[in-house]
This record gives sequence, structure tokens and C-alpha cells, in this order.
Amino acid sequence: MCGIVGYIGDKQAAPILLDGLSKLEYRGYDSAGIAVFDGSRIIMEKVMGRLKVLDELTEGGKTMPGISGIGHTRWATHGSPSDTNAHPHFNKEHSIVVVHNGIIENYSKLKKKLERKGYEFVSETDTEVLVHLLTEYYDGNPVAAIEKVMRRVEGSYALGIMFKDHPHHIYAARKDSPLIVGQSSMGNLIASDVPAILKYTRSVYYMENEEIVCLSKENIRFYNIDGEALVKEPVTIDWDIDAAEKGGYEHFMLKEIYEQPKAVRDTISPRLKNGEVVIEELGMTDEEIRHTRKIIIIACGSAYHAGVTGKYILEGMARIPVEVDLASEFRYRNPIYEEGTLAIIISQSGETADSLAALREARNHGVRVLGIVNVVGSSIAREADNVMYTWAGPEISVATTKAYSAQLAALYLLAMKFAKVRETITQEEFAELQKDLEKIPEQIEQLLGMKEKIQRFANRYLAADHMFFIGRGIDYAISLEGSLKLKEISYIHSEAYAAGELKHGTISLVEEGTLVVALATQEKVYSKTISNIVEVKTRGAFVMAVTNEGHEEIEKTADYVIYIPKTNAYFANSLAIIPLQLFAYYVSLGRGLDVDKPRNLAKSVTVE
Ligand code: F6R
Repeated sequence: MCGIVGYIGDKQAAPILLDGLSKLEYRGYDSAGIAVFDGSRIIMEKVMGRLKVLDELTEGGKTMPGISGIGHTRWATHGSPSDTNAHPHFNKEHSIVVVHNGIIENYSKLKKKLERKGYEFVSETDTEVLVHLLTEYYDGNPVAAIEKVMRRVEGSYALGIMFKDHPHHIYAARKDSPLIVGQSSMGNLIASDVPAILKYTRSVYYMENEEIVCLSKENIRFYNIDGEALVKEPVTIDWDIDAAEKGGYEHFMLKEIYEQPKAVRDTISPRLKNGEVVIEELGMTDEEIRHTRKIIIIACGSAYHAGVTGKYILEGMARIPVEVDLASEFRYRNPIYEEGTLAIIISQSGETADSLAALREARNHGVRVLGIVNVVGSSIAREADNVMYTWAGPEISVATTKAYSAQLAALYLLAMKFAKVRETITQEEFAELQKDLEKIPEQIEQLLGMKEKIQRFANRYLAADHMFFIGRGIDYAISLEGSLKLKEISYIHSEAYAAGELKHGTISLVEEGTLVVALATQEKVYSKTISNIVEVKTRGAFVMAVTNEGHEEIEKTADYVIYIPKTNAYFANSLAIIPLQLFAYYVSLGRGLDVDKPRNLAKSVTVE
């Protein structure tokens, strides 16, 4: 969702800005632009469409001389995608220019006031109020003007700003939208995310809410909203740029599907020690674990689907009541907080606006919050009481795969830890679980071997209009994720249904040839799911079943079957999701769609 890059140093800025923006393309965008100080004035180019249009227009940045600048990829919120609404935005005099991520919630009130003062708005964006407000407050001191603007606006923002009369500086500020600052020998940078600047530096400062930064070629100065200087420590990024490149794969999504054995292994292995699950970062004593009365899992999208699986596992294994909620619902639903509640926020990016707001809501009510987060140093990681990292590495494809798998692994570990401490499973059961858990990475590898088979099957469904995914219990949780993967990248309408619920209305949509993907990995409800398969078959559905090895008799009922290796029923999601991810990938590929950057979607959803 919108990307910002800024640079000031010895090199020509425009090619660095374009390169940085290309590393943020995964976030989703519909227009792009850059502004640079060319020695006497600020010049700007911005266009609707892909970054390559801007790249061509500026000949890779060559036509825009200058050693300082800011750039932006925009994901439209206020105002449709267009050249005019694209960022950066100038004031009338072209003396101040701004790029912005986030949403200014009180923009229409501010806009009316500014219009009364004679400011003319040329775009439909909320961002434009920022540049006019800066103009209103600017009296030669950029930091003071930025402070004043920050006090006037409500909402979220990461800002990159240039002032024509301060050509040797670029400025940035943030609230509830991510922004980092990079320090390098060739100059200093700002960006929405690490991949944009990793080519130039590993030394990064994470900006906190309501902080301002002023960058020159040699210096980086931080201020709080009162204009007081801050001392901040940089962190060193320890992963490599290769981790954020395609490495020979046609798409990031396929690469990330293939990285799942490693993501799961890296998440599990450091926490399995001498036959125990050791999660030091949980920060809870055994006593506190025993006294936990309720868990609330809160997340969005696929992370929420991992949470639905988590509910079945934590309740089943550790016998703790678990609520799962969508962050956008939780934050406004006035939940009942009981003593002994643990909130778990699951998020790949650690920046999802609704999840972050839910975290704050829970903490404000005195609830302890554990973050299960992939991006180190992200907002959720920093604001949670404790954070358990998923070690999936950078995930670039908009459709999550490896981070989701790592989230499942983290939840398995958590459930096993709670179950062991609360003595709801025996030592023998724990040992069995541990053995099965350790086997998951290699079983995923085995399933990846069936990619050609899945591709052939996917190619038969390229023209489908709608599909269903059904299952019971954990199989229902798998269905939710399988269905989302398919619809988000193939644009085929798809619904996930609890298999027993279909007949209460939705089965009327099943007709001759409708593809129904039936998950049947849970032995306890296997025969019930078979009955549901028969129900849809009777209405003409074509059924692809995903079940455990050893259930070959299912071939009498289902039309096409995928078998997953034997594992504990609690862990079936980690295996059954693999063919579903591959299926979604190959349907999208076969339909000629942009697999990694599906329309309308953003990788990091930093607005509510
Ligand atoms: C779907 C997908 C999204 C995210 C959701 C939450 O493939 O990636 O549904 O899971 O936007 O994002 P995070 O995990 O970053 O909070």
C-alpha cells in the first residue's frame, strides 16, 4: 500500500528513487511519481500506471538531474487513480512538495478552511491539504512547520517533504504508517520498507509515531513533535537482498511457496530444545500460562485464517477458550475483557492498521498482548508486550504463503507449550506431537513435488466463474485460506463454507460442473464430510478432495483426489494448504494475470 522513497547524497537521486520504488512495487499501487531538486528548482514527474511508464518517461531517471529527491507509488484511497492524484503534490509556488502514505481523516474540514484562505486544490486527494498546510505554517523553519501540521491533522501518515529554500535537506515524519531511515556512505535515505534501500545500506533507523527527521548528505537529525532533538540507535538488517529478489522463479509467489519448508523449519527449530518447547520471548511464567483464562486471537485476512486454525488447536490441545476476531471488527465491538485474558495479534507485516489499532485497544484495557509477527521492528512488534517472530524472511508477493505457514507453525508451538504447562496432554502425546511437528518441513517439500499434477488440474478450471471450498473444523479453516488464495489472484469468485452449513442456503448455487474443493483431513469428521461431498455431487458438482494418505476409498466419491502425508490432525493445515496455494498460483498464471500484484490489493494494509 503506497510506497515512499527519499534520497539525498552524492549520486543522482532520480535513478535511486526509481530503483527504490521498484522494490516497493509488491505493496500494490496504481500510479507513481518523483520530485527532485535540480539545482535551482524542484522538478516533478508523475503518471498513472506502472512504474515502468515513469521509468520510460524519465529515461531511467536520467532526464531529472539533482542529488536529492522523494518518490512515491500510490494506492488510491481518496480520489481515483490518475496523473493528477498521483504523488508528489506541489504547493502553488512549487516551493514545497510532499509524498504521503496513509489517510488524513479530517481532510475535508481542513480543505474547507484552506479554501476559505484562498488555497486552490488541484487534486482529489487528502494529501493535498498537507502541502497547503505546510505552506500556511512555513516561515523559514521546516521542522517547526511540520510540527504544526502534525498537530492539525488526524489520521495516519508517513511523509516525505522537500522545501525549495532548503535544497540540502529532505524531511520526513510519521504516525501510524511505517517509515525507515537508512544511513549510507553515499548519502541518506528514507523508505517505507527495507528492500527499497537494502542495496545501499544495512544500517536502518525505525521511526516512531510523531517523530520528524531531517536528512542531509552527511547527517540525520530526529525530532519529536515538540521539536526536541532525539537520540536514536540504528539497527543492522541481517538478511540479504537476494531474499527479496525472485532468484530465478517466474514469480515471487512461486518462490515463496517453495521457501515454505525453510520458513517453517526456521520458525520451529530454535524453539524446540531438548524435547521441550522453549519460547523465551513469550515472557510468561508457567504460573501465568496456567492462569490464562481466555485467549483472543485478532488478525486480518490470511493471518485471521491462521488464527481460526489456532482456535481449534489451542482449545483442543490446551483446553483454553479461544475467541478469534477480525481486527476491523474487534476494534469497534466493545469486547468484554476478563482478567487472565491474553490477546494474540497475528500479522506478517506488523503494520496492518486494523491489527495495530486492535492491539492498542486491548492494551488500553490492561490486556497482555503477544504479537506473532514476521517483520522485525515493525509497529506491532514494537508495541506488543511480547513478540514471537515468525522467521519466514521478507515476503514480497501480495498473496501470502510462507508467512501464513510460519504463523501456523508458531501457533502449533504455542499450543504445545500451553498444553504441556497446563498438563492437558500427556508426555507421550507431547513427544508424538513434537515428532510430527519436526517432520512438517520435509512433508511440505514432498507435496511441492506434485506441482505439475496441480498445474494440469488448474488448467482445466481457467474459465470457471465460481468455486466452493468446504470442510469441517480445521478443514474449514483450511478452506477459508484456500478460497482466499484462489480469489485474490485469479479473480474467480470463490466461497469457503463449513461443510455442514452449505445445505442451509448456499448449496442452491451448486450446479452441473461447479468445482467444489473438499477438505477431508480430520478423521473425527471424515465420514460427515464425505456425506457433504455426496450432497454436492448429487447437484452436479465436480469434487476435488484433499485427504490423508490411506483414504483411497474416497476415489469412489470424489472426482479428483490429492493425498497429504500422515501427520497429527492438528497439523494438517500446514500440508493441505500447499496444493491449494499451487492451485491458486497456476489458475492465475493460466489466466495470464499479474500473480504477484493482483488488482486492487496492497501487501501492507496501512489504512483502515
Ligand atoms: C492474503 C493476504 C492478506 C493478509 C492481511 C493481513 O494473501 O496476504 O489477507 O494476510 O492483509 O496482513 P498482515 O499479516 O500483514 O497483517
